[in-house]
Amino acid sequence: MKEKIIELESRREKALLCGGEAAIEKRHAKGLLTARERIELLVDADSFRETDMFVHKDGDNAPGDGVVCGTAKIGGKNVCVFAQDFTVLGGSLGLRHARKITKIQDLAAKMRCPIIGINDSGGARIQDGVDSLCGYGEIFYRNTLLSGLVPQISVVMGPCAGGAAYSPALTDFVFMVDGVSKMFLTGPTVVETVMGETISQEDLGGARVHAEKAGTAHFFAENEKDCLAQVRRLLEYLPQSADDIEFDKDARSRVSTDDFPNNIASILPSDGKEPYDVREVVKCVADKDSFLEVHEMFAPNIVCGFIRMNGETVGVVANQPNYLAGALDADAADKASRFIRFCDSFNIPLLTLMDVPGCLPGVDGEHSGAVRHGAKLFYAYAEATIPMITVVLRKAYGGGYVALGSRHIGADYVFCLPTAEIAVMGPESAVSVLYHKEIKAIVEAGGDVEAFKKEKAEEYRREYANPYEAGAKGYIDDVVDPKDVRSRVIDAFASLKGKKVERPNKKHGLTPA
Ligand code: HXC
Repeated sequence: MKEKIIELESRREKALLCGGEAAIEKRHAKGLLTARERIELLVDADSFRETDMFVHKDGDNAPGDGVVCGTAKIGGKNVCVFAQDFTVLGGSLGLRHARKITKIQDLAAKMRCPIIGINDSGGARIQDGVDSLCGYGEIFYRNTLLSGLVPQISVVMGPCAGGAAYSPALTDFVFMVDGVSKMFLTGPTVVETVMGETISQEDLGGARVHAEKAGTAHFFAENEKDCLAQVRRLLEYLPQSADDIEFDKDARSRVSTDDFPNNIASILPSDGKEPYDVREVVKCVADKDSFLEVHEMFAPNIVCGFIRMNGETVGVVANQPNYLAGALDADAADKASRFIRFCDSFNIPLLTLMDVPGCLPGVDGEHSGAVRHGAKLFYAYAEATIPMITVVLRKAYGGGYVALGSRHIGADYVFCLPTAEIAVMGPESAVSVLYHKEIKAIVEAGGDVEAFKKEKAEEYRREYANPYEAGAKGYIDDVVDPKDVRSRVIDAFASLKGKKVERPNKKHGLTPA
């Protein structure tokens, strides 16, 4: 027995050495952590239980075959984890490496718990040929089957090239680290050879590029430690799986007894055209310090995130008048619709704070698929069966009004502030259409056209762009004093606890692409 235990220890030691001491030192010298160090930082202390440590590539010395897998706890709850080990063949993916990942994916499905993948890989292992492609296919297949069943989180902490890029893109949330993460289909060398374009890895697929432009990254971190702390924070808001409908049952114990800020009225400018930061309004309705913004750097004209209300997780979608006046465009529609579908999959109620002047007009937008992308937003709201409440803060014009959680598209309650303007379009645009003949005549006669427009805009505002026109038709439920919004929304969500929606049985719908 003693000999067997000595053998076990020696094998374990070899496996723990990954790609060797020199390779580990090289990483540390670059300020990078190893796969196991990353897992230790991510999970609760002493909770990681490694599986498949003794897997190695046939006939050579690749400990763990370049990936560390296992189960652990985060915040006391089960998670499945894998972390690619760049010290072993550049974390490249061969068949056994892939099968370790698919095994832990299958386990996450059985355990009904979140799965977190820390990606650091040169992509398909070139020398393993088609086996590597098979491995990727098997991972993507499971990413898709797990979608909407358990939360899937990808942390990109190094290169994530070729096939390695698609798996994160198939998961729910992608985290990237400034200066460390790089994600691209193929690196700068091939880009230069094929396209004749010279670009650095960072500029091609660095964290900032994916967080701001491509929109692949939902969370941006300054360093690895900060990134893993952000993952832990996100998990606090999420259920273990789509079956975990009571995950907030200890919610009230989390409610802060501090006073809530209640200054929505002082945040909203009296001039309807003046911008403001809607995140300040979110903080007024959320429990104290509970706002976790998602996709913060991408499409800032719409804000998405998680808050707590009375201790319970709520998803928030809010137009951001501080950027593009909060108008909708393709990126905003992509961002919000995906977020809404996540909330719907995992039974997280949704609050929409509406202040939308409409869709961003323009040739570029139209030609790049504003209609195709915008349709996703209608689809996501209409498809969702979670409790949905909308508060109209200010503008609610045209398609933006219908799309963003109007009653007509599925909201359970729509509340308006007295400042709400629900109408087909804004007063200035409406006046220019309705009174174009009169305007032309005044201009020709040399009259005061601005005074005329102002008077007509006021008239329009009084008659149409207010909450009472919609109220008279029953399209909204109430006009609420700003100081009562939080309590009114909390009461309304409470009333929707047992919400049940029956939908026709079908295979699946077709999300606009
Ligand atoms: C085998 C690989 C590898 C790969 C890296 N390595 N990528 N081995 N297959 N795909 C090995 C290197 O040979 C090296 O081995 C070690 O990992 C470290 O790599 P370096 O190049 O020294 O590191 P670095 O300078 O940091 O550059 C990292 C990198 C670069 C940017 C990831 O290695 C790279 O460009 N790799 C290829 C990326 C790529 O184009 N992948 C796409 C594959 S095709 P030694 O022995 O020297 O330590 C694909 C399609 C799948 O993935 C499609 C599925 C749908």
